[in-house]
Amino acid sequence: MEHLLKLSSLTPDEIIHILDVADEYKRLHKAGTDPKDLQGKAIALMFGKHSTRTRTSLEVGIYQMGGLGTYLSAADMQIARGEPIQDTARVLGRYYDAIVYRTFKQSDVDALARYSGVPVVSGMTDYAHPLQVLTDLMTVREYKGKLAGLKAGFVGDGYNMANSLIVGCLMMGMDFTIACPNGYRPSADVLFFAREYGDHFKLTTAPDEAARGADVLFTDVWTSMGMERETERRRRDFSGFCLDAARMALAKPDCIVQHPLPAHRGEEITPDVFETHADEIFDEAENRLHVEKAVLGILLAGK
Ligand code: CP
Repeated sequence: MEHLLKLSSLTPDEIIHILDVADEYKRLHKAGTDPKDLQGKAIALMFGKHSTRTRTSLEVGIYQMGGLGTYLSAADMQIARGEPIQDTARVLGRYYDAIVYRTFKQSDVDALARYSGVPVVSGMTDYAHPLQVLTDLMTVREYKGKLAGLKAGFVGDGYNMANSLIVGCLMMGMDFTIACPNGYRPSADVLFFAREYGDHFKLTTAPDEAARGADVLFTDVWTSMGMERETERRRRDFSGFCLDAARMALAKPDCIVQHPLPAHRGEEITPDVFETHADEIFDEAENRLHVEKAVLGILLAGK
């Protein structure tokens, strides 16, 4: 693995290796013996969108590994005044050992990787959220003891989380059904990728179909960052796409729920479903730390 830009660039073995390394970093952290695998390494954490989990888990994880993480608000950088991404990349690549970048356009993260000369990790784009979905896979495996053969459902917007979940879950041998309203389908290239998996993938406008018999149900906000002006229209369009108790009753009795957070209770998930599954959701949030350490350990320390 040279960069982490999207999951479809990885092999299934590479994904499993990331999850195994993350499990090991978690075990060592709980034992109080964090390996200092990033000693002497500096990682730029460049954010063009808000973040609570991604920023803080990266800062803490890099600290635990003995490295330096520098938070860079893209709004305060010259990139916000028009400096090209190619030039920003070539400068940061001369100071830092790796760069994490959260922004809107996938092409900007790809350009950073092309020009910086150092490993680049996507901290989320409009197209993909690979760190989050690797974390979801780690968490599902913790709860279920396996991934292959599980039935996953996603109810909500066919946006970055859906794109990455479809790829990650199918590559891990899971069945995946996504329910989204017309007009909110996943990216065309992701649907093309999923076609290779035949009956293991289903796209529907019926949320109950995604929930029926599921081992794990995923959802995410209806209005992602940068779409705030569409909030009212989206509330109308996604009406009926909530994870509520009636829908959960269609899933397996031991079905778990994953939500990348922040959650909008009363929209994509009801308060009672959220609280019933809060341990699973906050274990997922915790695992961001361990997955990010694994990705950086693999990229920079040969793990
Ligand atoms: N799930 C996630 O990416 O959270 P943040 O937006 O808080 O980083």
